[in-house]
Amino acid sequence: MDPITGAPGRKLVLAVADERLRKKLEELMREENVEVEHVPNLAGVDPSQVDADLVVLRSSTVEGDELPRIIEGGDAQEGPGVVFLGDEGEAEEEIRLVAGGATAVLDTSVDRAELADQLVELAEAEADGGVHGPEGHGSLTEPKLADFQSRSPRMRDFLDVVWRVAASDSTLLITGETGVGKERLAQAIHAESARSKGPFVVVNCGALAESLLESELFGHHKGAFTGATGTHKGHFESANGGTIFLDEIAEMPQHLQVKLLTVLQRHEVQPIGASKPVGIDVRVIAATNRDLAADVSEKRFRQDLFFRLNVVSLVIPPLRERIEDVPWFVGRFLKHFVESHRRPTVQGITRQAVDILLAYSWPGNVRELVNVIERGVLLCKEERIRPEDLPEALRQGGGPALQVTVDPTEEFLELPLQEARRRIVEHFEQRYLEHHLRACHGTVGEVAERACINPRTLYEKMRRLGLAKEDFR
Ligand SMILES: Nc1ncnc2c1ncn2[C@@H]1O[C@H](COP(=O)(O)OP(=O)(O)O)[C@@H](O)[C@H]1O
Ligand SMILES: [Mg+2]
Repeated sequence: MDPITGAPGRKLVLAVADERLRKKLEELMREENVEVEHVPNLAGVDPSQVDADLVVLRSSTVEGDELPRIIEGGDAQEGPGVVFLGDEGEAEEEIRLVAGGATAVLDTSVDRAELADQLVELAEAEADGGVHGPEGHGSLTEPKLADFQSRSPRMRDFLDVVWRVAASDSTLLITGETGVGKERLAQAIHAESARSKGPFVVVNCGALAESLLESELFGHHKGAFTGATGTHKGHFESANGGTIFLDEIAEMPQHLQVKLLTVLQRHEVQPIGASKPVGIDVRVIAATNRDLAADVSEKRFRQDLFFRLNVVSLVIPPLRERIEDVPWFVGRFLKHFVESHRRPTVQGITRQAVDILLAYSWPGNVRELVNVIERGVLLCKEERIRPEDLPEALRQGGGPALQVTVDPTEEFLELPLQEARRRIVEHFEQRYLEHHLRACHGTVGEVAERACINPRTLYEKMRRLGLAKEDFR
């Protein structure tokens, strides 16, 4: 269902043999006005000919050589999207399917209502043109809100808010670390709004000399200052009817902050040297990687402007706090770079390389991940990207150093390396989990979130290590 208009009319085909799962999903999605049809399996079915927004099937029922047939149809712009239900967060498998063109791979261990919600959202996105954009195959060029998908509960709550404010005309402040996708989100919001036909103008407030910024933003008239040989339209005027994206807003000098506030209040700009102001109709989206509230309390940023910008505040979580999204990104970026660099020999990524990507802390966020995958595709000499195709910094972990001291008398020094490593890792996992279980008073869901692992995986680990949540209450 359309999150904003509540428009009905989405259709989905479920090829799920498990009757209980299928019935439950059907029931939940019908409540959302999604029409659900059931087929026992996809044998003999051409997915591109299926009249639906989404085809949903269990990943375990698809052999590797069947994948192209199933997805090819689904990946076509007019065909339905293809969504796989995986048994658990199997990163490698998810990457394989997404790189092969799957719209998404969902984890069936989340609760059924959550799963149904995700399917409804995907059906909606697909009806809206699909997550891959009009260029089809793995396009990363045209940002759309539909390609902000996430498995992380926090990110999904965030995206709910985004969908609600996107179509409105309200001023937005987007914050988040560098590379999380602030500019991309702003573009996607613009594309989703009634202003989508209007211009989207990007101004980096940190990149321009203070003296130039004012005339760049608001324009100037001929002779307004030495060197003003002609009349120059400012970015605000250029953005008329559309959206202006003010990046690195925290870098804006104080005297311009005053002027910007006036622009926001009066919907008009005063070009330098002009005798009267010019009316404008522009939506403002500002962004920063700084803590603007802190800048306000330290008097580096004007409080009145902060309040005016911060009508709706969107904080994009860093990638390391939604590590469960890494496989989906990797799959998409792989598909994109394999196609754009014409490296069809690159078929995927090894399990060891995936483990490295999942353990890394991603200080450069999605931007860094894009670069890592592009580099990996270019360096890859085999069929799959291996650890040696990843940058050194990643292979060294990049997280806080873990100190392991080896006492020469310890018995595991007598063991084969593999067995010794297994025991040390197990010992470390035990201490790590005990620490977090204690800190979370035995709440497994919370520990799983902190550790960025699937609750089911965590339960399994706890069982194996003999840890009981009751002991930490
Ligand atoms: N959801 C996403 N899907 C695809 N690419 C993304 C997504 N989020 C970020 N990126 C990519 O990551 C890079 C950094 O995004 P950008 O919006 O410039 O980040 P920021 O403005 O926060 O520094 C860009 O190449 C962008 O296309
Ligand atoms: Mg940026």
